[in-house]
Amino acid sequence: MIKPKIFQWIEVSSYEQMSGIAATIFIDQLLAKPDSVLGLATGGSPLGFYKELVRHHQAGEFSFARATTFNLDEYVGKGPGDATSYHEFMYRNLFRHIDLAENRRHVPNGLAPDLAKECERYERLIAESGGIDLQLLGIGVNGHIGFNEPGTPFDSRTHVVELEEATRSSNARFFDRKEDIPEKAITMGVETIMDARKIVLLAFGDNKMEAVRRLENCTVTEEFPASILRKHPHVRVIYGR
Ligand code: F6R
Repeated sequence: MIKPKIFQWIEVSSYEQMSGIAATIFIDQLLAKPDSVLGLATGGSPLGFYKELVRHHQAGEFSFARATTFNLDEYVGKGPGDATSYHEFMYRNLFRHIDLAENRRHVPNGLAPDLAKECERYERLIAESGGIDLQLLGIGVNGHIGFNEPGTPFDSRTHVVELEEATRSSNARFFDRKEDIPEKAITMGVETIMDARKIVLLAFGDNKMEAVRRLENCTVTEEFPASILRKHPHVRVIYGR
């Protein structure tokens, strides 16, 4: 049977609406398949989504107990205990509020002594878990997904990247001083993301609209990493301003 391709645009009129729709999609996924493997993102886009997930979870509507999660990325040199690490972001906004055991939640280890080995380990873990069922993405103003900056090969797997100036500037809001913004990160590769069975992309705000418009009209090119999603079999873009 040929599976129909889904590329759905869901326009919303508020950030809260975007968060609620995304949360419903993830909750439905966990209700249908409690041992789902979820791909997670950090940043401003998913904050409201995590709030909603936690609220519904705490109301007893669903459980994370059999789920497994993999985050997209982490800064090199950062890890648990560091307030600006993605480990801490996830702990603060999701993990400490839910019933997901520590050994089932994964974030790349930005403190690993051998980063290349850490990238291999992360890929192996994803494969051993059976692959990602549902991946959450944000989008950078330059079209990055994960930290795959423009020019990243589409066949990339988890790897270490140099962050672009544009990305460091838009993430400056999370740091006290500019010099504290990391220059490198570990990120799932473009192909790692494309292997996810389903993808939900969140984009909200005036500054994201150019990237959304470009995604709508683009040819598939490594210069605009998110463009590869046009080739994915199941994508929902939830966007608004
Ligand atoms: C975060 C990530 C990034 C962000 C993107 C948008 O884990 O991989 O691709 O999703 O930079 O960030 P926000 O949501 O802060 O605008």
